[in-house]
Amino acid sequence: MSFPKNVKIVEVGPRDGLQNESTIIPTSIKVEFINLLSATGLSVIETTSFVSPKWIPALADQREVFQSIDKKPGVSYPVLVPNLKGFKHALEASVKEIAVFTTPSEQFSQRNTNCSIAESLDNITEVIAAAKKNYILVRGYLSCVLGCPFAGEISPQAVTDLAEKLIRLGCYEISLGDTIGVGTPGKTKVLLETILRKIPPEKLAVHFHDTYGQALVNIYVALEHDISVVDSAVSGLGGCPYANGATGNVATEDLIYMLNGLGINTGVDLKKLIAAGRFIANQLDKTSQSKVNVAYR
Ligand code: HMG
Ligand code: MG
Repeated sequence: MSFPKNVKIVEVGPRDGLQNESTIIPTSIKVEFINLLSATGLSVIETTSFVSPKWIPALADQREVFQSIDKKPGVSYPVLVPNLKGFKHALEASVKEIAVFTTPSEQFSQRNTNCSIAESLDNITEVIAAAKKNYILVRGYLSCVLGCPFAGEISPQAVTDLAEKLIRLGCYEISLGDTIGVGTPGKTKVLLETILRKIPPEKLAVHFHDTYGQALVNIYVALEHDISVVDSAVSGLGGCPYANGATGNVATEDLIYMLNGLGINTGVDLKKLIAAGRFIANQLDKTSQSKVNVAYR
C-alpha cells in the first residue's frame, strides 16, 4: 500500500470552527489565534468568511480580522465567499485566495444559502469571473457529499457531476465536505472511486466533520486513494449552523499525530499547534473538551 509522502493541511479552525460558536470571540483574540497558527508551519489557514453577518454573526468582523493578521510569507489565507457582494468585500480587504461553496443537496442549498443549486452555480460563476480578473485563486467546496440532514443519501455521481462543473468554472481544487460526519470508510471508498474516474486526486481534498468518530479512518481511506490535501480544525472546532448534526471537524492535532505515525510529512510543528489549540479552547472555555491530549505534551 502506498500513501502520499506529503500532506497539505488546510486549517479551517478560524472559519469553520468559529462560525459555529455561540460565543462571539473578540477580534483581537481571533487575530492572535491566527498568528499562532501561522507560526506552526501550516501553509494554508482559512481565515474567515465574507458571508452575510446576518447569517453568521460570529464572523461579522471578517474584514478587520483579515486585515489585522500577520501574513507570513509562504502561507495562504483563503476566505469563504458566497456571492459577488462577499467577493467585493474580500477584494477591498486585499484577499488573495477565496473558497466558493455549493452542495449536491437542493434542501441544504436552500438552508445554507437561501437559493437552489442552479442559483448557487450562477453566483459562483459570477464570483469566479471576478476573481479571475483580479488574479485571485478559487477553491471549491461541496457540502453534504456523504449524506444530508434534510435529503438523506447523496449519490456519488451527483457529487462527481458538480465537482466537474466547479473545476470547469475555474476552481483549482475541490474539497469534499462530509458536513454532518455520516461518512464511513465504505461509503468514502465508493464516493472516491466514483469521483476519481473523472477527476485526478491532485485536484481533490477531503473535509470530514467527526460527528460519529469516523473522520480519521475516512481520511486514511482518502490517503489510500492518493488524496494529499486534508482540511481540519485545531482542537476539533467546527460545524455548520445550517446543518443539524454538523459537529466539529477532525482535530488537526489528531490528524498530524496519525500522519506522523504513518511517516507522512506535513511540515507542522505539533507542539506549537497544540499551543494554538489550547489558546482558542481556553478562550471558548472548552478546555475540558479540547483535543489536547497528555500524550502530545
Ligand atoms: P440572502 O438573505 O438570500 O441574501 O442570503 P440577500 O442577497 O437577500 O441579502 C440579504 C442581506 O444580506 C442584504 O442586506 C445583503 O446586502 C446582505 P440588507 O439589505 O438586508 O441590509 N448580504 C451580505 N452582506 C455581507 N456579505 C455578503 C452578503 N450577501 C448578502 N456576502 C447569503 C444569501 C448567501 C448571503 C446567505 O445565505 C449567507 O451568507 N449564507 C452563508 C451561510 C454560511 O456561511 N454557512 C456556513 C458556511 S458553509 C460550510 O460551513 C460548509 C463547509 O465547511 C464544507 C462542509 O463542511 O461541508 C464549507
Ligand atoms: Mg465544514
